[in-house]
Amino acid sequence: MATKTRPETLQWLGETDGCLRLIDQTLLPLECRQIDCPDVTAVWEAIKQLRVRGAPAIGVAAAYGVCVGLQTSANADRAVFDEQLKKTTAYLASSRPTAVNLFWALERMERVGMHDAARSSAERLAALLAEARAIHEEDRAMCHAIGEHGARLLASGDSVLTHCNAGGLATAEYGTALSVFFKAHEQGKKIHVFVDETRPLLQGARLTAWELMQHGVPATLICDSMAAQVMKEGRVQAVVTGADRIAANGDTANKIGTDSLAVLARAHGIPFYIAAPTSTFDTSIQSGEQIPIEQRQAEEITCGFGKQTAPDGVAVYNPAFDVTPAEYIQALITEHGVISPVNQKTIALHLSLAGEQA
Ligand code: MRU
Repeated sequence: MATKTRPETLQWLGETDGCLRLIDQTLLPLECRQIDCPDVTAVWEAIKQLRVRGAPAIGVAAAYGVCVGLQTSANADRAVFDEQLKKTTAYLASSRPTAVNLFWALERMERVGMHDAARSSAERLAALLAEARAIHEEDRAMCHAIGEHGARLLASGDSVLTHCNAGGLATAEYGTALSVFFKAHEQGKKIHVFVDETRPLLQGARLTAWELMQHGVPATLICDSMAAQVMKEGRVQAVVTGADRIAANGDTANKIGTDSLAVLARAHGIPFYIAAPTSTFDTSIQSGEQIPIEQRQAEEITCGFGKQTAPDGVAVYNPAFDVTPAEYIQALITEHGVISPVNQKTIALHLSLAGEQA
């Protein structure tokens, strides 16, 4: 596979007194620079500002963020450690609201940190770091498995369309939707990917195009508004995207613009797939109506990347995600296989079988 070497999306340096290093994705594709997060404020800021982004990567970053946040309590007594753990997880949980992987990872960390009253604070910090490393490793494995399952849905000669970035930059490595393309490509299938640029922050243009080119997967960049035209011209055989949160009934939150793609795919008779690990499912909520949608700053639209493109004072609405109804989703691809049709029953069965395997 022709992959140019690049640093890992996320790395933990050292032991319990170490720090989180990550690629600052706001600088890509012009510069691939790593930054260190020496304290929990830096981790929070990196998540908030999308220096690290994508649901699974946010979860991994937050898990390491808990370790960073507890370092100063390594010698503290139990009550102080407990309080700091609660404060740190609550703080990191306030960074972004939509991707459930963030809350999933923080809950896991809190469970491990609170477990076993007899341990010293230093031992509990060591257990937290081991858990963060496990979350990181599991995500790596899940991404590769998603790719294997998803690649079976693509035939040689297919051209697919994707939105936002669900690649190695959005995960521990390899990605979810992009993992499907990477695996198909590795298997020798001739596939081509249309990449939505993904307004307003251009994750498609800046990150997905960059990753696909690094892997040698043929890719063509389009503006989001061109999707209907390329579908009408018969150039798209499938749409595959990632997800930020999947409700019990299969309604799926992903980057703003995903829902319109699903509607278009339905209108053109094109299968629409979501690739996501089981850590992205939130069965505590029944439907997509309960998924919180992040609202972001107006400047991302009026002054994206430093150039003003709208009149001063214009009213702006900037939801970062939308929800695709389950009925538009042909299949969900997880690390355990493919869920189709997508409904509450098939999802519950898939997750319970997955739970038995774990
Ligand atoms: O705002 P972002 O860049 O964090 O949004 C990311 C997405 O919407 C991705 O498609 C999703 O998190 C899946 S990443 C494997």
